[in-house]
Amino acid sequence: MSNIVLQVSNLHKSYGAFHAVQGLSFSLQKGEIFGLLGPNGAGKTTTISMITGLVQPDSGSIQIEGINLAQQSNQAKMKLGLVPQELALYPTLSARDNLIFFGQIYGLHGRRLKQQVERALQMVSLSERANEAVNHFSGGMKRRVNIAAGLLHEPDILFLDEPTVGVDPQSRNAIFESIEALNQAGMTIIYTTHYMEEAQRLCRRVAIVDHGQIIALDTPQNLIHAIGQGVIRVGLNNGHAERLVQSAQQLPCIRSIALHDGYLDVQANDSQSALMNILSISQQIGAKLTSLQILEANLETVFLSLTGKTLRE
Ligand SMILES: Nc1ncnc2c1ncn2[C@@H]1O[C@H](COP(=O)(O)OP(=O)(O)OP(=O)(O)O)[C@@H](O)[C@H]1O
Ligand SMILES: [Mg+2]
Repeated sequence: MSNIVLQVSNLHKSYGAFHAVQGLSFSLQKGEIFGLLGPNGAGKTTTISMITGLVQPDSGSIQIEGINLAQQSNQAKMKLGLVPQELALYPTLSARDNLIFFGQIYGLHGRRLKQQVERALQMVSLSERANEAVNHFSGGMKRRVNIAAGLLHEPDILFLDEPTVGVDPQSRNAIFESIEALNQAGMTIIYTTHYMEEAQRLCRRVAIVDHGQIIALDTPQNLIHAIGQGVIRVGLNNGHAERLVQSAQQLPCIRSIALHDGYLDVQANDSQSALMNILSISQQIGAKLTSLQILEANLETVFLSLTGKTLRE
């Protein structure tokens, strides 16, 4: 039996002449935490909005547990829970009353509604504060109520869109723990973020998204392994970069070398030798180094080596 619970194929979405999502495809295994990692405007929310049926794609198809979203939208949507990027809560209502309200929207009532509200409050560690109005809550606690709202109908797949933005460290940990507990209980999770540390900590696989396209997709370990021992970023005075590339790209200590925005980004197999060689070649060709940075191998560096820019630029 196939373990694929979500299959997204060749999604496209434009706003006027602007291509927000351009041919995005991926599939999700049951029980994994999958990260969509990308900078502001990469197309993460647009992608999630299409998969959860809030935005109509221009083309492409979405299968949720074998159900085609376009053809059997209500049936497919019941399998999904969404925790949106923007908070959607009634500030004067208590946390519990907010959840009762959202539960009713999902069609829950009576004893089951009560049970599900208490269960969701417990999942986000807010049972003890449930009677307080949410406008007295910190940003992080409001987020946790938002997460609880997405859990009420016990979805198989939960979408969390940047759930830790503007959140205090204590709530951030509580959010991580809730996500890990939900996942251990069998829930499949899609998590968007532009914080690479979060993707690295939580996600089994990560799709790196830029300009509406997936530019890399693998486990964080494999993505990091692919860039070798990190990246050496070299600034040079004018006119020498191309000569340095030509001389350095054949060396076994260098995996790849590319020019981005006037900087040379060198992926090294052996960073020590790569650095020594770059210094020596620069001297031979009369190039002057204007800056030198050694970047540790992590997802941020993976993104930099793929795009030449940082995730938070
Ligand atoms: N309704 C809309 N009308 C016009 N442009 C839109 C609309 N929604 C999104 N866009 C544009 O599409 C691009 C992708 O937006 P999206 O919200 O999906 O990015 P994101 O990756 O979620 O970014 P962020 O990290 O800032 O949340 C952006 O340039 C955005 O301005
Ligand atoms: Mg977004």
